[in-house]
Amino acid sequence: MRTKLIVANWKMNYSVTEALKFLAAFHREINEIENCEVVFCPPFTALYAMEETLEGTPFKVGAQNMHWEDSGAFTGEISPFFLKEMGVQYVILGHSERRQLFGETDGEINKKLMAALHQNIIPIVCVGETDKEHKEGKTFDLVNLQMKKALEGQNKTDLPNIIWAYEPIWAIGTGKNATPEQAQEVIQSMRKELSKTTNAPTAETMRILYGGSVSDEKAKGFLKQPDIDGFLVGGASLNPQKFAGIIRATQRPQ
Ligand code: 13P
Repeated sequence: MRTKLIVANWKMNYSVTEALKFLAAFHREINEIENCEVVFCPPFTALYAMEETLEGTPFKVGAQNMHWEDSGAFTGEISPFFLKEMGVQYVILGHSERRQLFGETDGEINKKLMAALHQNIIPIVCVGETDKEHKEGKTFDLVNLQMKKALEGQNKTDLPNIIWAYEPIWAIGTGKNATPEQAQEVIQSMRKELSKTTNAPTAETMRILYGGSVSDEKAKGFLKQPDIDGFLVGGASLNPQKFAGIIRATQRPQ
């Protein structure tokens, strides 16, 4: 059975002070979790303070991006080695905002994935189609291609450690989420692809998340789908009550 995973992608929101204020409010909502993992991905500047504050709690911390080299002349970049040393356990890779706004290529995502696996940082690799591609019926081919390019040349034994996130770009920050059935169909096809790259039992153990306008009200509907293992949450993760509501949707009824 796959443990549900809820990831908060704060994007470029919350300074250190704001992040700690969020955590105080969040802890008033929820302290214990059962059969579920929760990861906060704040901006780099808040990682250390959050890591310290969350020590001894079930909540973990991840980065939103990283470079593929451990050190060197790469002004403004952050090394996987630095993240690992700080205790960061997860990293989001290939988010559509990085692909679209910062020109991140499949080749770079492939190198970042290799570096994360090398450092034993759990990668959360994002894939997803634009509105145009969605309307043209290209979703399945595009998502498969993005996965294939990310996986090229990776060490086979590392593949089960990869977490995938299906984030249709037309659903990000728009309030226009995919339906649970649409997301299930794409995520099921992703698992099928993974069973070809690995094998069926391994693909069954790998976690695949949905992201795009996830809210506390809608979470349960997605979680009823057999292949959706949790969420990558943007906007709603900035609100302690709403984010706690999404986590509660994964918990067994009392
Ligand atoms: P929203 O939840 O704001 O749509 O953002 C989704 C996202 O991009 C998470 O990575």
